[in-house]
Amino acid sequence: MRRPLVRDDLRSMDGYHSPQVKVDVRLNTNEAPVAPPAEFQAAFLEEVANVDWHRYPDRLAQSLREDLAALHQVEADQIFVANGSNEVLQTLCLTFGGHGRTAVTFEPTYAMYGQIARTTQCRVVEVDRDEGFRIPMSGLEDVITSEKPDLMFLCSPNNPTGTAESEEIVEAAVSLSPGVVVVDEAYGQFADFSAIEKLNQSSAPESLVVTRTFSKTWSMAGVRLGYCVAPQWMLPEFEKVVLPYHLDSVKQIAGRIALRFHDQMEQRVAQISEERQRVSDALARLGFDVFPSQANFIMFRSSPCGLEGNELWQRLLAKSILVRDCSGWPRLSDCLRVTLGTESENNMFLEAVKEAIE
Ligand SMILES: Cc1ncc(COP(=O)(O)O)c(C=O)c1O
Repeated sequence: MRRPLVRDDLRSMDGYHSPQVKVDVRLNTNEAPVAPPAEFQAAFLEEVANVDWHRYPDRLAQSLREDLAALHQVEADQIFVANGSNEVLQTLCLTFGGHGRTAVTFEPTYAMYGQIARTTQCRVVEVDRDEGFRIPMSGLEDVITSEKPDLMFLCSPNNPTGTAESEEIVEAAVSLSPGVVVVDEAYGQFADFSAIEKLNQSSAPESLVVTRTFSKTWSMAGVRLGYCVAPQWMLPEFEKVVLPYHLDSVKQIAGRIALRFHDQMEQRVAQISEERQRVSDALARLGFDVFPSQANFIMFRSSPCGLEGNELWQRLLAKSILVRDCSGWPRLSDCLRVTLGTESENNMFLEAVKEAIE
């Protein structure tokens, strides 16, 4: 039987594939090591019992957006919520990308920027980060001059390197670029500086969008909830490309209730940061090249220990420990990325790493 043809441009593309393998210790997708507090779960179940199942959800997710606006000291009509920050990124690409338009990424970085932009038929221009995985000012200025990008993705802290971006780079991007500057702060609670600060001022830029997610520090990857803080004029534009009633009632409840447990979220961030220091130190003592991180993961290079990255990844998997193998990505030879887990998961990881290089 004849198969209908998919779009020409999709034929050469791959889908997202981070292996979902059944293992004892899963440290490959930067999730939180623990679930939200029991009180969250009780409050959530109580409210879910009252959901109007036969009615569409509040299309504008007004209450959730008001709560997020209060958290960030912005207006509710500066908040757009979606099914994970990936859907926010897709909405941005549908609004500002598309055929004949250009998006810029700073590599290595979160692979979905390029992927989502390309699926909207946007041209993607990649700029190299410097040796410390920071965005070089000259590279930023040059690409803005030569490409006049419609979209630019800054990731701070950057996945997979853990590098936080400086305020100076964000300011330069916003003041020089003619297009939208997206600062992805999926791991923003771990960093000292947040670009959201720029959006709660009277002189807020008209081109800056900051994305956040509930998947990481809020311990809610299973729910798929993310949002962005944007200038008010963009929200009606997003409404043109997003599907009606895209954010279900249950998710809106989960988000609102999660925000009541802000202190507990911050405690988790503090604990993970302590673990990050401990695990980084231990990896460095074992002889790995460890890159400084301001997120809930650490990238490290295995070659100084005489082992190829993929070989180490395989050896860890054989011990039922799953980390992210970045060694095949351009610019990241022999690099693996490990998400910080619970203390005992981290100990199991370190023990397995030690045995793998012995
Ligand atoms: C930098 C970055 N942005 C966005 C996402 C997507 O998050 P979400 O689960 O909100 O779609 C991830 C997930 O790993 C990420 O690392």
